[in-house]
Amino acid sequence: MGACWSSRIKAVSPSSTGFTSRSVSRDGSDSCSNSRNSSSSIPITPRSEGEILQSANLKSFSYNELRTATKNFRPDSILGEGGFGSVFKGWIDEHSLVPTKPGTGIVVAVKRLNQDGFQGHKEWLAEINYLGQLHHPNLVKLIGYCLEDEHRLLAYEFMSKGSVENHLFRRGSHFQPLSWNLRMKIALGAARGLAFLHSTEPKVIYRDFKTSNILLDTNYNAKLSDFGLARDGPTGHLTPKSDVYSFGVVLLEMLSGRRAIDKNRPTGEHNLVEWAKPYLSNKRRSFRVMDTRIEGQFTPNRAQRAAALAYQCLAVEPKFRPNMDEVVRALEQLQDSKETPKSADKKEHRRQGPGLSHHPKGFPASLKDSAGDAAPVKTAYPRPSASPLFA
Ligand SMILES: Nc1ncnc2c1ncn2[C@@H]1O[C@H](COP(=O)(O)OP(=O)(O)OP(=O)(O)O)[C@@H](O)[C@H]1O
Ligand SMILES: [Mg+2]
Repeated sequence: MGACWSSRIKAVSPSSTGFTSRSVSRDGSDSCSNSRNSSSSIPITPRSEGEILQSANLKSFSYNELRTATKNFRPDSILGEGGFGSVFKGWIDEHSLVPTKPGTGIVVAVKRLNQDGFQGHKEWLAEINYLGQLHHPNLVKLIGYCLEDEHRLLAYEFMSKGSVENHLFRRGSHFQPLSWNLRMKIALGAARGLAFLHSTEPKVIYRDFKTSNILLDTNYNAKLSDFGLARDGPTGHLTPKSDVYSFGVVLLEMLSGRRAIDKNRPTGEHNLVEWAKPYLSNKRRSFRVMDTRIEGQFTPNRAQRAAALAYQCLAVEPKFRPNMDEVVRALEQLQDSKETPKSADKKEHRRQGPGLSHHPKGFPASLKDSAGDAAPVKTAYPRPSASPLFA
């Protein structure tokens, strides 16, 4: 829930709602189901609200339909809450999309904009504009929307495993720590989603990459949600490399199991990036950032390579960050390598960290950033747009 309301609203201007049609120049992943709604490249023209809603090829729900689907927005069907409003579980018929009895048809997640004025309208429209046009296995599917009187709602495919934030940071019997393999699978899926956004013409800069916006389906496939802050780019200060920085923050959260900002940690450890960077830049010490709850599930070599990737993404100078295609390749290679952790690895972790002499190829070559540089963080969740460093 990091994005504060005011920063979201300020960030959304008519151009940021993406009043454009786009063509996908290149596939962001190896899947074949990426698409947009129209088949040819369409000139970039400002589009009215009516045009966006019409061309999005989404179901237009009445308020009553979504009220019925969610059992009158019953509090016990709330899936989560964010800056936009509450998200409810609902049921609709798979073909006609009309509300059905709970337990029949398909499950949807219905997001209802808080009704304190029309502040979130632009975000709501941006979501429809982007998700109405962009389709990819690593983007959450928008099924429809409701625009009726003061009501603004969105209906999405239901992501049964919820958000990565819940899995990483919620404690309790319901949420077991995610395994190393699942973390890497999720990182790869999310990276593919971003790579896809950066491959469209014009490029989409997502601007809200954080663990609560990465949703998981039954098989832990990651899908990006929330396009309210997304913008067409690049523009002067806004380039795909700002998403790469955010990816680095999230990758670090996944490796460490720590939140980007955590005031409950000891002094000096509140800011994850500041605390971790000196370790990440040093092969022998990178094991120190790893989540102790999954110790023994990864080889030192893999941990080093993942840490090095996070370090590269977190380079203060955008030009030293990899692009998302390179990140995807690095994560694919990490998954492809056949090594399995030996029990000896665990001992070695405790003793001195990853045994570099045994894994000479641990780090990707281009660690050009200087060690110890920490990006200033001004918001609860560090995001590139919050800092002049993230041009
Ligand atoms: N399609 C979905 N399927 C299942 N759960 C969902 C879905 N969309 C959202 N949720 C749940 O609802 C929560 C709230 O989502 P929402 O996007 O409104 O806020 P957020 O991402 O947590 O915070 P922010 O407003 O800062 O983006 C999510 O964290 C997730 O747990
Ligand atoms: Mg969200």
